[in-house]
Amino acid sequence: MIEFVDRESSNAEKYTLREQLFGDAAVQPLWVADMDIATPACVFEAVQKRLQHRVVGYELMPNSAFEAQIEWFKKHHDFVMLREWLSYSPSVVASIGCAIRSFSEVGDEVIVMSPVYPPFFHQVAINNRTVIHHSLHQDSEGNYRFDCQLLKQHISNKTKMLLLCSPHNPGGRVWSADELQELGQFCIDNNIIIISDEIHCDLVYANYKHIPTQSISDVIANQTVTFLGTGKTFNMAGFSISTVCIVSNDLRAKFEAELKKIHWGEGAVFSHVGFEAAYSNGETWYNELMGHLTLNRQKLIDFFVSTPIKMTIPQATYLAWLDCRALGMGDKQLRDFFVYEAGLGLSAGLSFGREGSGFMRLNFAVSLEMLEAALENISNALKGRGYD
Ligand SMILES: Cc1ncc(COP(=O)(O)O)c(C=O)c1O
Repeated sequence: MIEFVDRESSNAEKYTLREQLFGDAAVQPLWVADMDIATPACVFEAVQKRLQHRVVGYELMPNSAFEAQIEWFKKHHDFVMLREWLSYSPSVVASIGCAIRSFSEVGDEVIVMSPVYPPFFHQVAINNRTVIHHSLHQDSEGNYRFDCQLLKQHISNKTKMLLLCSPHNPGGRVWSADELQELGQFCIDNNIIIISDEIHCDLVYANYKHIPTQSISDVIANQTVTFLGTGKTFNMAGFSISTVCIVSNDLRAKFEAELKKIHWGEGAVFSHVGFEAAYSNGETWYNELMGHLTLNRQKLIDFFVSTPIKMTIPQATYLAWLDCRALGMGDKQLRDFFVYEAGLGLSAGLSFGREGSGFMRLNFAVSLEMLEAALENISNALKGRGYD
């Protein structure tokens, strides 16, 4: 059974930072991408069992944990990973930074397809590489698309990597096999390594299927580094555990050489058992979760269809990307509108890149009651502005 949990009295970032970010500690926080839904019981049972052993020393991530992930991917994504391709990472974002340092030099260029999860930009910048900014464009249904012809005009012999968010945060796109093939071929032709962040890969709605980039072809697999984990699927971000999947021996050796400098090790014992339990025993919980997110997503579709705010229908993720440009507000005004007139703390579209100007991102991984209350607030705020 999925359970909704009041996180206000816990140390949840989305609550504790409200005053600082929104200037109002009472806003309903629908920003940080984690859920107000309890992590599966099987994860706690596994951690409790481990607690019975009273030494918490150094431990390697066990093969059984990797095998549990391999089985999950076989079953859910028709993709067979080999154990030796996988390694532990405490965080996808940390892995992105590590990959940038492993596969490029200071001053090299990295393609970022925008709008996108903000750390993509930050990791390139703080590692002293240059962002090649590729604007995704929306089709008539609001779905983002890339354009390899245009991309070709902006790259140079210093362009070493492309950061791909698959499925896409914030637009909720599930890239098709044809799109991934086209993008992959573009990268092969131009000697560009693909960094495929697939952390949202399990949160895909009916009629869509996540295609792992490394499953497209052997050549593409060999030029791709993929990041995966339990953080989003099972609401386990606080366990600080994810994995890196590298098929190419050469790329893996380079990545491992960089890891040695950081010494981030093999993770914590409680994370190992939580991770393994989630992939081994979390299926029923996961199915219920997807049922709930599907209902909430439909609620949003029904609501926004009759407002001036247009929502891109997410094919994946629990994030709704709201096109608020028809309200005619500047970005600061738009944020204030949601905070002061609707009482909601959303993620500002502009933080996802300049294409996000006029957009807001709403996290709908909450109870139906909480979502309904948020939508009523938006409805009243719009009425206050003369929209009926
Ligand atoms: C696309 C994407 N990648 C990575 C992360 C964060 O991953 P981690 O907490 O493992 O660094 C998020 C969190 O929102 C995300 O949306």
